[in-house]
Amino acid sequence: MGWLESAVRLVLINAIGSVETAQNIFTKFCTVLNPNGSRKHQLLCDSHIGSSVQDKVCIVTGGNAGVGLETSKMLAARGAHIIVACRSVQKGMTTVKMLEDIQALPSCKKSKADFLPLDLADPATIHQFVQNFKAQKLPLDLLICNAGIMAPPARCIAKNGLELQFQVNHLGHWLLAHELLDLQLARQKKVEGQERASSGRPTRVLFLSSLTHWGGRQSFSDVSASKSYDPLLTYGDSKLGNLLTVKELQRRFDRNEHTSQHVYTAVAVHPGLLHTELACTWMENNFPALLRPAATHALRNWGLHAWWTLPAATGADAVIWAATAPAEKIAGKYLGHGKPGWQAPKGDNEKLAQSLWDLNCHLTGVQTSSHLP
Ligand SMILES: NC(=O)c1ccc[n+]([C@@H]2O[C@H](COP(=O)([O-])OP(=O)(O)OC[C@H]3O[C@@H](n4cnc5c(N)ncnc54)[C@H](OP(=O)(O)O)[C@@H]3O)[C@@H](O)[C@H]2O)c1
Repeated sequence: MGWLESAVRLVLINAIGSVETAQNIFTKFCTVLNPNGSRKHQLLCDSHIGSSVQDKVCIVTGGNAGVGLETSKMLAARGAHIIVACRSVQKGMTTVKMLEDIQALPSCKKSKADFLPLDLADPATIHQFVQNFKAQKLPLDLLICNAGIMAPPARCIAKNGLELQFQVNHLGHWLLAHELLDLQLARQKKVEGQERASSGRPTRVLFLSSLTHWGGRQSFSDVSASKSYDPLLTYGDSKLGNLLTVKELQRRFDRNEHTSQHVYTAVAVHPGLLHTELACTWMENNFPALLRPAATHALRNWGLHAWWTLPAATGADAVIWAATAPAEKIAGKYLGHGKPGWQAPKGDNEKLAQSLWDLNCHLTGVQTSSHLP
């Protein structure tokens, strides 16, 4: 019956994806007919963001491209201290230069930008990233777990032998968030002594999930997809993993004296179907090998990708909104564009989230943090 379950999951992802694609095409038509009308949609974050990220230390994984880059640019215009976490030194440094050149919005101070290397496929670089961040003696205000890969046609393996999408999209980010939160909580306790953490500065962790979480499995018994590999379903598993991590993190924040009362918040965001390398490459890979070169040429050179996707900045706008909205509005939620997204019921399955958390601990060899029991 495994094939039936997989078929149902694929139908779900494709059905929900098709609805969103149709919405995007409709939006594109509206934009063509009324170019000024679309601005309302694109500048959602400006309604409340003001300078609320001013001087905040914000780590953006995959901050060098796509939604991550657009998010970093928006943070830079609003005076944040951005740490671009990506695997290529050259891309990281180029991005930092670009962010430094961005002009601050009126009433915002000049931003700061740094680069720290991070390859989520390699746990050693994740540990090193945390050590590098620790050496900077900075607080953690905002962690945006954004980097990702989508549906490589053939099963790929990460440095630790796990399937690549599970490792990069889910487990690598889980480990990064876990270690950075541990660091931040230890730092905060030191600074505040016995005082309650609620007097301290808030910390928010944001995960880029996706509508494809609807196709995620009800169990994580084969995280390496060694029995069967379907590119899109495996991606869906990893995005469900992001969502379950947010839910479990928020439960842990809420029951812990130092992180409750929304001093610490976790939130999941579906940024929309966006005009980025990830989505465009996925679409092109759907064409049969023989047609793929011609289809890719047409999609890229005739501007066809722009019809079924929204600009990456629109996704970044949704991310910034989630990063800055009042904590009580967003804590533990799955958000679409500035509002609760259409979330699969299994996202609220506490048993599944807890068992995934235990599996993460087992796979990474970390003990559940004494700070976040
Ligand atoms: N685009 C969409 O329609 C869409 C929809 C829903 C959710 N999302 C989610 O949004 C997030 C961003 O996607 P995007 O569309 O902006 O994709 P993108 O333009 O392809 O950017 C992906 C980023 O992830 C980085 N990355 C890939 N593998 C990495 C690794 N092993 N270690 C560190 N960084 C790595 C890439 O770095 P390099 O430049 O070095 O490759 C790049 O910076 C993803 O989590 C994706 O699942 C996207």
